[in-house]
Amino acid sequence: MCDGPMTADATALARTLTGIDSRSYGAYKQLRGSYDLGVCRLVVDHVQVDPYAPPSLMRIVVDRARADLPQDLLSDHRGRVATTDFLARAVARAAAELGEGISTGAPGQEVLERTSVALTSDGVEARLAVALPAAGRRIRGREAARLLTEDLPRLAQTALLHANLDAEALREHVTLHRDQEALRDQLAERGLVAFVGDGAILPRRSGDSDLPLADGAVPFASPSSLRVEFSLPSGRCVSGMGVPDGVTVIVGGGYHGKSTLLRALAKGVYPHRAGDGREWVITRATAAALRAEDDRAVTGVDISPFLTGLPSGTDTRAFSTTNASGSTSQTASLVEAVDAGASALLIDEDTAATNMMFRDVRMRALVPAEREPITPFVDRVRPLLTERGVSTVLVAGGSAAFLDVADHVIALDEYIPRDVTAQARALATERPPVAAADVFGAARPRVPAPGTLRPPGKKKPASARGRDTIRIGEEHIDLAAVSQLVDAAQTQAIAHALDRLAELLDQPGPGAAPLSLEQAITALCERIEAEGLDVLSPHRGHPGHLARPRPLELHAAVNRYRGLRLESGPAVPEAR
Ligand SMILES: Nc1ncnc2c1ncn2[C@@H]1O[C@H](COP(=O)(O)OP(=O)(O)O)[C@@H](O)[C@H]1O
Ligand SMILES: [Mg+2]
Repeated sequence: MCDGPMTADATALARTLTGIDSRSYGAYKQLRGSYDLGVCRLVVDHVQVDPYAPPSLMRIVVDRARADLPQDLLSDHRGRVATTDFLARAVARAAAELGEGISTGAPGQEVLERTSVALTSDGVEARLAVALPAAGRRIRGREAARLLTEDLPRLAQTALLHANLDAEALREHVTLHRDQEALRDQLAERGLVAFVGDGAILPRRSGDSDLPLADGAVPFASPSSLRVEFSLPSGRCVSGMGVPDGVTVIVGGGYHGKSTLLRALAKGVYPHRAGDGREWVITRATAAALRAEDDRAVTGVDISPFLTGLPSGTDTRAFSTTNASGSTSQTASLVEAVDAGASALLIDEDTAATNMMFRDVRMRALVPAEREPITPFVDRVRPLLTERGVSTVLVAGGSAAFLDVADHVIALDEYIPRDVTAQARALATERPPVAAADVFGAARPRVPAPGTLRPPGKKKPASARGRDTIRIGEEHIDLAAVSQLVDAAQTQAIAHALDRLAELLDQPGPGAAPLSLEQAITALCERIEAEGLDVLSPHRGHPGHLARPRPLELHAAVNRYRGLRLESGPAVPEAR
């Protein structure tokens, strides 16, 4: 690989940087601008004010012709997502070799649409965050000159030119992605919630690692009664277990892999990279994992199918609380997810609120139905399916209650699934009678009050802190329990989305009725679809490192926001 002679811009930039060596950090400000560095153009969009501020934002841009990416890989949206993901991984590897100063918004195990590498009309662009070198608060100019005029062009050369990439690996990456999404496209018409391929490796290395378990993992093997095959666009054929629509209960002894399977299904809403072990775990994009989440806020949610006649007289058709209990939090999350378009629910009894899930026979005898405000999920799981078309996959190790309402029962035995539907049916008592009238009415749109996403103390844009927290004004939105959020870059995208939603809600258009939450989020998602993920960012040029969240996670964030106020609907009493 030859570096070529320095361009005039590169020589001038290097001279500027050596010229400000050991001056105070603010002198870096003059770097803003665009430089022709030969193999790439360097665009400095934002310069950090001091060495301890968030790093400076820069882009390296390689001409389309020079990058020379095969056109057939870029012919569809999926191809472009997979190609930029591949390039982002290459950029991250090359940057890691240069040391610690460059962050690249590197992908994890999932392949997501993200802003860290973009295909623009000019070419291929890597968006970097670069800590400009300092000694204390003084500029290290020579080091900066080497970084910007030598290291960054070399990074462009290694990671953005097709000629220097593993062409075969890139093609396989794109082909895998297209096949995975094609399989996902077919799930609904085949009547499946999810697919788990034979040979999949589901367990992870540890609680804090998303990498596959290295030693002793038992590969997934489908039971013959649930085995399905898919032929995919590349010509590849995969076989595995189809998790059917309806109510599926996963049983089995402790430590036999139930939660691991359910977690894999939850993450299966995203495609995984080759070698992850979950490449062929594909779940419908609108499946929602639910759990109990004490203390979350709830605003104006109709939980009356599950909770009525509270001793306090609270109206549960528009239920609000600032600190929900385990059961009300899970109930609210369920209703919110279904209203937001979830087609399947994934629930693990390990993390569910037991009193919301079922009530046993003796308790039903002891506490008469009219004295019990809770209708447990076991009595609602079938109406949810018949009235709303929402399937459920549920892990139940400890209770037989759900066997009565299951369409399919899968038993895990030392990590291997068996179809035990027939045995379970033999044990089941009669199904509870179907209610005469629908228990779930149509979704009731909630219209946010004007300005609700612009709290008084809000001077700065909403921002993410890690994967779990969004700061908006003086408030924090806690997303720790939103388990299908997988990347801090998604959280940052949601933070920006909240600001864009605030704008949409404030200006619904001339003469238009105020938007419901559902309408506003749909409109924003359509905008992302049409204009790309960059539109979420308030910054032109370098949008920061964002990854695309699902609409369900956008809803989840708004719904957990303690400042949410609604305009319409019945009065919203504070629950006690
Ligand atoms: N297919 C597998 N091969 C090897 N180990 C596994 C497999 N599936 C799960 N495990 C491991 O077994 C342990 C128990 O799994 P878990 O899913 O929590 O079981 P359960 O929910 O049934 O109690 C975990 O440490 C998990 O990583
Ligand atoms: Mg478990």
